[in-house]
Amino acid sequence: MPFEPAPSLPASYLAEAADVHRVLLLYSGGLDTSVMLKWIQDEYDAEVVALTVNLGQPGEDYDVIRGKAMHIGAVDSFVVDARAEFARDYIAPAIRANAIYGLGYPLFTALGRPLIAKLAVEYARRSGCDTIAHGCTGKGNDQVRIEATVATLAPELKVIAPVRSWQMGRDEEIAYAREHGIPVKGGTEVAPYSIDDNLWGRSSEGRWIEELDTAPHDDVFQLVTRPEEAPDEAEVVTIGFERGLPVALDGEPLGLVELVERLGAIGARHGVGIVDHIEDRIVGLKVRDIYEVPAAAILLPAHAELERLVSTIHQNQFKSILDQKWAYLVYAGLWWEPLREDLDAYMLAANDRATGEIGMRLYKGSARVVTRSSPNAVYDAQLATFSESGGLFSQASSPGFIDLWSLQSRMAWRLRHPGGE
Ligand code: ARG
Repeated sequence: MPFEPAPSLPASYLAEAADVHRVLLLYSGGLDTSVMLKWIQDEYDAEVVALTVNLGQPGEDYDVIRGKAMHIGAVDSFVVDARAEFARDYIAPAIRANAIYGLGYPLFTALGRPLIAKLAVEYARRSGCDTIAHGCTGKGNDQVRIEATVATLAPELKVIAPVRSWQMGRDEEIAYAREHGIPVKGGTEVAPYSIDDNLWGRSSEGRWIEELDTAPHDDVFQLVTRPEEAPDEAEVVTIGFERGLPVALDGEPLGLVELVERLGAIGARHGVGIVDHIEDRIVGLKVRDIYEVPAAAILLPAHAELERLVSTIHQNQFKSILDQKWAYLVYAGLWWEPLREDLDAYMLAANDRATGEIGMRLYKGSARVVTRSSPNAVYDAQLATFSESGGLFSQASSPGFIDLWSLQSRMAWRLRHPGGE
């Protein structure tokens, strides 16, 4: 039976044109949201307030972005530096939860969106806006993360997502921009990669990345050095943790923003953190992303190692199940779901003893744990040693243990193999 699309009823949080008077636009300064800034003024006869959030994406000139917003007709334009809040309230819990979605996505975009949308709500209220606009397409996870946040935190605000409805492709957008005096950056012939980045990582989508049998072209890597070109000398970095939070790099105490930035730069130099990822999006699509996540690719394995060292086998087995659930909720745009907070309470408790140092060896794309130390390690070299029979561990107890440990399995085996064959 052919698939029949459902009739489209607008959800209650979506804006009707007549209710839109003043719009808070999440503005990046790029082509989509620049065209949108003008398009909303014309299409809705509304005022636009622009908000740009700094989550540590490298290479942005926020004065230029502000100026551009005003030039295109924004009645006001704000830039918020939210790096410290992002690190403290989003990256730190992600580290405690060893947060990875799929086989290697450390969730930087998924972590950033609820914060960006929360700030949009704050600035919309503060500047008398009735509506929030964003530049996400109808095919991605980001629309879900942003709109779910707005609908949760501010039911009185409405949302518009022009890219879902305006039916302009890139060429039409460029034509629209030219026609309306919106500055377009050079090199418009080739469509660029679709990039999203912040302190915790960078993603590229589009172009050849959509051809699954195409290996990554070199030009996609703008953050991480290609491993082939990384230094021939390995480098060991030591990360100090306190209760699961990274607090020092090679013995030097650092705030999380600076620690992530510095470690990211070191990892990038050594080619660490390239992930070529097929992903199950929440809107049903399977999509390929190229990620560059140098800091996460060092910190997450280091943290997981320390946590395993200070926890028992039972704690370790249980936590990895909760870690997965945490990552999925965050990926799926449910940051404000109470289960996430419940899980965070567990993550905090489980990290209470995760204090110590982990040494990571970085070499041509790999980051490998080489040293560990913690006052809380559930480890006793005397017990574990192969060299002596003495110590507290009674090897004489082992045969009895094996007898009972294997009892049910042996009984079941015999029932299945009655003749012993
Ligand atoms: N696939 C990742 C995610 O869903 C990255 C998305 C990047 N977003 C973007 N608008 N380019 O979180």
